[in-house]
Amino acid sequence: MTLVEEIQKRRTFGIISHPDAGKTTLTEKLLLFGGAIQVAGAVKSNKIKKSATSDFMDIERQRGISVATSVMAFEYRDRKINILDTPGHKDFAEDTYRTLTAVDSVIVVIDVAKGVEEQTEKLVSVCKMRKTPIIVFINKLDREGKDGIDLLDEIEEKLGLSVVPLSWPIGMGQRFQGVYNLYEKKLCLFNPHGKQTVEETITFTDLADPELDEIVGEKAAEELREEVNIINEVYPAFDRTTYLSGDESPVFFGSAINNFGVKELLDCFVEIAPTPLPRQTEERVVIPSEDDFSGFVFKIHANIDPRHRDRIAFVRVCSGKFQRNKNYQHIRLKRKLKFSNPTSFMAARKEVVEEAFPGDIVGLHDTGNFKIGDSLTAGEELHFKGIPSFSPEQFRYVVNINPLKTKQLNKGLIQLMDEGVAQLFVMETSQRKIIGTVGALQFDVIQYRLEHEYGASCTYEPVNFHKACWVSCEDPQKMKEFVNRRKKDLARDKDGKPVYMAESAWGLKTVQENHPDISFYFTSEF
Ligand code: G4P
Repeated sequence: MTLVEEIQKRRTFGIISHPDAGKTTLTEKLLLFGGAIQVAGAVKSNKIKKSATSDFMDIERQRGISVATSVMAFEYRDRKINILDTPGHKDFAEDTYRTLTAVDSVIVVIDVAKGVEEQTEKLVSVCKMRKTPIIVFINKLDREGKDGIDLLDEIEEKLGLSVVPLSWPIGMGQRFQGVYNLYEKKLCLFNPHGKQTVEETITFTDLADPELDEIVGEKAAEELREEVNIINEVYPAFDRTTYLSGDESPVFFGSAINNFGVKELLDCFVEIAPTPLPRQTEERVVIPSEDDFSGFVFKIHANIDPRHRDRIAFVRVCSGKFQRNKNYQHIRLKRKLKFSNPTSFMAARKEVVEEAFPGDIVGLHDTGNFKIGDSLTAGEELHFKGIPSFSPEQFRYVVNINPLKTKQLNKGLIQLMDEGVAQLFVMETSQRKIIGTVGALQFDVIQYRLEHEYGASCTYEPVNFHKACWVSCEDPQKMKEFVNRRKKDLARDKDGKPVYMAESAWGLKTVQENHPDISFYFTSEF
């Protein structure tokens, strides 16, 4: 197969949702269709329960399993599908944001009863920033929920997406009979007792046909006709180009647990979803079909066994062919590296691969050479863009409680930050170290891992910060003045970039007003 054929074959995407909307269930059903797993329940363990009881021991357990489920690859209708797993827990949102840099499209799962929830909003806003094509799957139609049209309005309003329904539910909850596939003009009938089987599908081009009343009953048929009329009037016809540019989102309805509507979603997905897309680097745009290999690290996974402090770096292949045992340039380290055991994640098994193509993810065994965002190429100096750090929401001072282990603590902190567990800021004047995280859970994780993997002990002291803002200014003189005046509020991030540590939203506003020439950002890339 040629490189272009390999690229055309691939679909790399992520499933995102607010916890409990059904991401894990949908993932599992897709894997069942792809033959990657044989029984339901195989992916179930891959989640930290969202309840308040989850603690860092859950995370430790999770780390053990999630290497295998980080990427789930399978073949379906001659396509190679790579599903990238994203943690559902909000404390790991940063991990999810980074994974989104390695996908070409996403499926958003929404619970029909709950509608658009907080985490959905955040994740979709990250996708929109990157113009990632989005498909929406409205789940749990076997339960009572919101009215379909109201829900589409809510999605448009809260998520800012222009939606185009490609299927439409016939009733819901107890009255749920199935969906009408608007895309293929087919009636898909739900069989609540036939879990795991392909549901009955009838081609039905004309909804005015009285046979519809016989099949679903008069009332439901009338309702469906009315609703489809409204949809045809209100929403534009689906346009793939608009979807691919991230400006239009097709919507499907179904019930993942009952395996209903999943096949329709998958069949349509493989048709319309983008093949591996070009990626922006600081130097130029990289096209997948270029001969030379290039890729970047978007995730690092530490070994849970403290005796082996090795890790797996996950590399998204962006162009050319990646080959085992070939020398590649590690751009940041300015060094050639060769990988004898790169792994792929076909069918949830880890296997050594000889080669990988754009859209694929390879796991590279790492002894500390990689950081998130690192570029690997055949030789060309390329720095992949678009893996920003987001401002953390919680901050604490790190306090070393065993001075004899200072070296271990510093090393541990650096390595954990390279892995992306949290962000480290060093205050400009006091040189005190501050850890910033999205959720409180990470503080426990860091403490636990420093002790178990590095033999270092730390504790935390509270510090009252609202946000970390990366700052820039076109005029170096004005930037210098700002740095001098605000020194006590400034810190440096892992790359030495200046960051303004804002104590409150109000305080930040005042500083912004006082320094109109300075730009403040909540992400490290702007
Ligand atoms: P998540 O990964 O997005 O967090 O969601 P997950 O798939 O774990 O689903 C959350 C809960 O919703 C699960 O129930 C799951 O069984 C249920 N669920 C998923 N899809 C559907 C659906 O189409 N209809 C209905 N009625 N429920 C659905 P749970 O009780 O939390 O877990 P479990 O005990 O069933 O494992």
